[in-house]
This record gives sequence, C-alpha cells and structure tokens, in this order.
Amino acid sequence: MTPEILIAAPIYPATLAALGRLYRAHLLWQAPDRAALLAELRDKARAIVTSGGAGADAALVNAMPKVEIIACFGVGYDAIDLAAAKARNIAVTNTPDVLTDDVADLALALILDSQRRISRGDRYVRAGAWTKGGLELGVALKGRRLGIVGLGRIGLATAKRAAACGMAIAYHGPRRKADAPYPYFANLVELAKDSDVLALTLPGGAGTRHLVDAEVLAALGPQGTLVNVARGSIVDEAALVGALQSGALGAAALDVFEDEPRVPAALVAMENVVLQPHVGSATHQTRAAMGQLVLDNLAAHFAGRPLPTRVL
Ligand code: 8YV
Repeated sequence: MTPEILIAAPIYPATLAALGRLYRAHLLWQAPDRAALLAELRDKARAIVTSGGAGADAALVNAMPKVEIIACFGVGYDAIDLAAAKARNIAVTNTPDVLTDDVADLALALILDSQRRISRGDRYVRAGAWTKGGLELGVALKGRRLGIVGLGRIGLATAKRAAACGMAIAYHGPRRKADAPYPYFANLVELAKDSDVLALTLPGGAGTRHLVDAEVLAALGPQGTLVNVARGSIVDEAALVGALQSGALGAAALDVFEDEPRVPAALVAMENVVLQPHVGSATHQTRAAMGQLVLDNLAAHFAGRPLPTRVL
C-alpha cells in the first residue's frame, strides 16, 4: 500500500511533485482545515516531510502516532522537536553537504557586500546620488580579520573563500579542531574583540540561542560587522538593533532573523545593514540536491535500508 505522508511546509516544487508521484502526499499548508487534515491522517501518516525553517514541534509529532520518519529539507533541524521524535523512536534526517558551498558563497557575498558597500552602491546609483558625488569608501577584505563562529562544513568553506580574498581567519567553537589551519579562540567575546567581521555558521537551537548578545556585539565594536547565515535565534536581535543604533556595532549583513519572514523595521531602515531573505541554499541546483536527499531518505526508510543522512 502506498505510504501516506504529511508535507508540513512548502519545499522545492520538483521535490513536491516527486513526493506526490511516489506517495499519498498531503500538503498541510494548503489544507482548508488543518485540524481536520491532521485528524484524517492521525492513523495513516507514516512520514513527515518538513523544512529547516518550519520544523516539526511536539504537537505535530504527537498528532501523528503512526509516523516513523521525519525528513527535513534543510541541514538545520533545530525546529524539529528531537525529544518528541526520540520518545517515539522516530527517525530524523536532514540534507547536509549538498548546500555547504552555496551557503558559504552567500556568506562571502555578505562579507563583500558589507565591506565594499555593494548593495548600498546599487541604491546610491538608482537614487541618482552619483551625480552629486562618489559613494563613501568601503574597506578592503585583504588583511581584514574574520572570526568564524562554528567551524563546521559551512564555516570551513566560508573560511577558505575568505582566506582566498586575503582575510585573516580565526574561529570559535565548543572545542579546538586538530586539523583546523586557523587560530582557535575558546572564548567568543575574545574572538569578537580580535575580529573585524564575525560570521555565524553554527547550528541553531536551544544550545546557541542568543549566544551573540550585547557583550559580544560590543566586543566586535564600532568598526565591526556581524554576518549571519546560520539561524536568527543565535543573535539577540533586540541587542543587535540597539548596538547598531547606538554605534556600538558598525554594521550587519543578515540572511536569517528571529521571526522570519518578519524583519524588524529598525533593521530595514538602516543603511549599514545588508538584508537577505534566508537564501543561503536558494539555488536550483542545491534545492534539487536537497530534495533528492529527502527522497532518498524516505525510499531507504520504506525499503528497510539504512538512511543516507540520519541525525536521530
Ligand atoms: C532552509 C536552511 O532550511 O538548510 C537549512 O537549514 O536554513 C535552508 O536551507 C531551506 O531553504 C528550506 O527552507
């Protein structure tokens, strides 16, 4: 019998189409009555497919007592209640590696944009300001100190790109990495003090919530720039707004926010802030590869084979 699956969030359209061909797929966000769909699927749905942003909270997990696997379309699974999944022996999978390069490319783009004022320059020309004089000078990447918070796959790929641009790399994380070719800072505030740009490439979740607070932002300082391609939850956003408004922090370049897709109006109003709509993995090639991993994990599960990218 074709497995019934619940798709909890909009993901890459070609992946949605493939899921519709392979399974009896139910799209939660299109349901006229969400509660009625969940009740209908209560004893039928064997899998939940979700995105890194939408996740699957305990209420959803426990509303589906027959679910055997949660397949996340995203590398970050911090929005999935792992405790609820573990309590029910539900497998959880994600989509690592295939998006590493795209997210690192965006991190470098945000570093370049913030230091060389690229999107600011675009607005400057479109506003006709150039006829009145040149854009304010930016800052060269060469010799700039980049602090990487989280030297995992994405952090390492970001470091390599930035090093190729002449930046001096250092990193912070829970432990020193024996094979890392960069100086390690056990203390985040100390890394921020020693950085011109601080790039967040670590996982989100309860363990890193508001890790970047007013103290870290002040340590990064009035000439410093915060770059975030990880999760909005990692930064105390109110403290970030305050630091930028007071001048305690120089600039920010952000792809993720605490309450997506809502972005604080104060950030939208600031010229020294680069804003992107959570597009780190947003290319056709990468989204197709992420979708293929979702399909591969579900196919393996239902065939009783080992899961390609299991996290729980
Ligand atoms: C989104 C991401 O999850 O991979 C992640 O964790 O944050 C992004 O890739 C993906 O775009 C689906 O929403």
